[in-house]
Amino acid sequence: MKKQISDHVWWTGKTDWELNHFHGQEYSTDKGSSYNSYLIKGKDKTVLMDTVWLPYDKEFVNNLKKDMDLNEIDAIVMNHNEIDHSGALPELMQQIPNVPIYCTKKGEEILRGHYHQDWNFVNVKTGDQLDLGDVKLTFIEAPMLHWPDTMFTYMDGGEKEHILFSNDGFGQHYATENLFDDKVDLDEVMHEAMKYYANILNLYSSQVTKKIHDILAMNVPVDMIAPSHGILWKKYPEKIISKYLEWADAYQENQITIVYDTMWNSTRAMAEAIADGIRQESPETTVKLFNSSKEDKNDIMTEIFKSKAVLLGSPTINYGFLFSLGGILEMAKGLRFKKKKAAAFGSCGWSGGSVKQLTEKLKECGFEIISDGLEMKWVPDQKALDEAREFGRAFARKAA
Ligand code: FEO
Repeated sequence: MKKQISDHVWWTGKTDWELNHFHGQEYSTDKGSSYNSYLIKGKDKTVLMDTVWLPYDKEFVNNLKKDMDLNEIDAIVMNHNEIDHSGALPELMQQIPNVPIYCTKKGEEILRGHYHQDWNFVNVKTGDQLDLGDVKLTFIEAPMLHWPDTMFTYMDGGEKEHILFSNDGFGQHYATENLFDDKVDLDEVMHEAMKYYANILNLYSSQVTKKIHDILAMNVPVDMIAPSHGILWKKYPEKIISKYLEWADAYQENQITIVYDTMWNSTRAMAEAIADGIRQESPETTVKLFNSSKEDKNDIMTEIFKSKAVLLGSPTINYGFLFSLGGILEMAKGLRFKKKKAAAFGSCGWSGGSVKQLTEKLKECGFEIISDGLEMKWVPDQKALDEAREFGRAFARKAA
């Protein structure tokens, strides 16, 4: 149900406590999510901003109808038209078919491509405005944050009511009944915001940096950032902005992440010995180990995002490496992490080859290879584990 968030604005979205995956099965949403839609009531005009995901289309429209006559809506602003935000639009437009939809040119193309309807589109560009009387909306194109159609909308509603509607930007997959940043566990929210950035936006980091600087250069007050997922940044908008600037700048902590898969525990034993070596050489470095066949893939991506260096390990199977590493490498390649060092390791019985292949794949992902890797035959004995420890020490020195 709608919740008032400022003098002129009501949240009209859907909190999805049940959601456990997003983008099909590509993104795990352990804390649910929300699809934030907003109703902005000016003196002269009322605007609905964004809708919700398709399964909730009827619920969304029915809730709106409980609170208002839909004919009071003078315009719809669609900041981004992926289905989690535009899914309820067809249901809504059946009721108010002539209401203009403000979106970018690309947004119109996407809406036409998704829904095949000849709605009343109004294309807007950066700087275009929509005047609601005592409230003014200014559109800011923000391509690739998260799709080419994306725009932000800046609202000037007067004293203490300057809101940046940023759609996916600054969002998190996080369900809560408390909409604001000072009413939630902020550590939990920041973790989800980082996971969202690492898994969805990292690829577009240069656009993130540029857009934040564009907005800062506008030199306008921002009292609140209202994304389309998760909580609203009311008390700490500067916190998420400064985090985004950090994350977009080849982010890394003093962490080395070891991702491996194993058949008979030889590669796991190597991973643990390598971790020992890293800890011996560099006690201040955080070392984390993940079995890629057991750990959540998006959590692994988040840990790689935080790392200065990564090690990938797999035994050789069928002259290649284990299946789960293939998925991890494909995701890492797409996300284009920057300035991270890497190497590979693994056990084998006869031909070997996984280490060489993993090393090539790591290179394709854009990692800087700092070692030829370590391949060991059969089950590592004490001498082999000592060698793996030494490999870890050498890797820590080169990753420093
Ligand atoms: Fe939340 Fe890119 O849609």
